[in-house]
Amino acid sequence: MSQPQPTSRQAFRRTDDHTPGTPKVKLVTEAIPPLSPSGVLIKVHAVSLNYRDANIANGGNPWPVVPHGIPCNDAAGEVVAVGERVKNLAIGDRAAPIVDTENITGREKTRSWLAADEDGVLADYIVFDEHKLCKLPTYLDWVQASLIPCAGVTAWAALKGMEIGQTVLIQGTGGVAMFALKLARAAGLKVIMTSSSDAKLQKMKEQFPSPPLLTVNYSKNPEWHEEVLKLTDGAGVDIVVEVGGSSTLVKSMKCTRRGGIVSQVGYLSKQDTSEFAELLSVLIDRRVILRGINAGSKQDQDDLCDALSATQIKFDDIIDSVYPFEKADEAIEYVWQGKQVGKLVLRL
Ligand SMILES: NC(=O)c1ccc[n+]([C@@H]2O[C@H](COP(=O)([O-])OP(=O)(O)OC[C@H]3O[C@@H](n4cnc5c(N)ncnc54)[C@H](OP(=O)(O)O)[C@@H]3O)[C@@H](O)[C@H]2O)c1
Repeated sequence: MSQPQPTSRQAFRRTDDHTPGTPKVKLVTEAIPPLSPSGVLIKVHAVSLNYRDANIANGGNPWPVVPHGIPCNDAAGEVVAVGERVKNLAIGDRAAPIVDTENITGREKTRSWLAADEDGVLADYIVFDEHKLCKLPTYLDWVQASLIPCAGVTAWAALKGMEIGQTVLIQGTGGVAMFALKLARAAGLKVIMTSSSDAKLQKMKEQFPSPPLLTVNYSKNPEWHEEVLKLTDGAGVDIVVEVGGSSTLVKSMKCTRRGGIVSQVGYLSKQDTSEFAELLSVLIDRRVILRGINAGSKQDQDDLCDALSATQIKFDDIIDSVYPFEKADEAIEYVWQGKQVGKLVLRL
């Protein structure tokens, strides 16, 4: 450890006041957690927001969270100090923690999610054990690199197994969806995107002109899965990146080809079990593989970083806006209101 280490940090912590209109996070100055022999101190340069952050801050998360925890799980930063037993990271490396810090290989029996079971990353300094950290690609700037751990790894896991020329249905124009669109395009997949907004779909078409993006407005077309079937000559898509949850899952299965995959990523719609009346018959009839996605392992994150370094995909075109760190509360509200197309990032 060559440089004097900072001893205190600025972090946002949740207020746990879920009343609409009240601040959801509060800036605090606190001691930086001590550095263990296998610990790594990271100076955070960017944190990107996910729907989950706004949902937890507003009390909507279905799983327990630590009181007044630090929100967010998507960060990119620079290693500024390492414990004496750290082997794989050095000062100056670019690094990010994985979002479920106990999911190293995918075979672990326990879980610990950042910003829920433990503190997240919305702070200027964070400390993690080296085995919970991945090296980030060097070709991306901090803002773009911050999309990788949650939105990126989730999109990567949701698209696993796809082959060039296959068709993917991507729901919505949120962060995971836009990352999935970028990966799908790089992988040579045909993309059908849905949105509740014609304006957002038009923006997408202009942004991704070639090959032409196929689109469906799910709000105007309650039977949107029929439109998706039409776009695939009645056969259905090979894979769905499913974010709607109970109101969309069965329809997604109905427009998936026989033997195709539905990657269940999100649960944005109102939870209503009556929507599942046809679940089993459709699942069996269409022989759909229903695959739960819960971000991914450290291995997945390392694989994604390798794929990005190999393809050099840029993500500047899916950044909705960049806010200063100090405006975290405003940024969380923006995501809560669903105003973004793509990602909202806080820069430090
Ligand atoms: N399982 C995991 O590991 C994992 C990881 C990350 C996120 N997630 C989940 O994935 C979902 C999306 O996350 P995100 O961060 O990408 O959210 P986001 O950036 O807030 O985007 C949400 C977008 O989804 C679309 N949407 C909303 N309701 C919908 C519905 N009923 N049917 C279809 N599309 C709908 C909307 O797009 P339009 O405005 O264009 O209609 C909305 O803008 C959330 O439920 C989140 O909790 C899960």
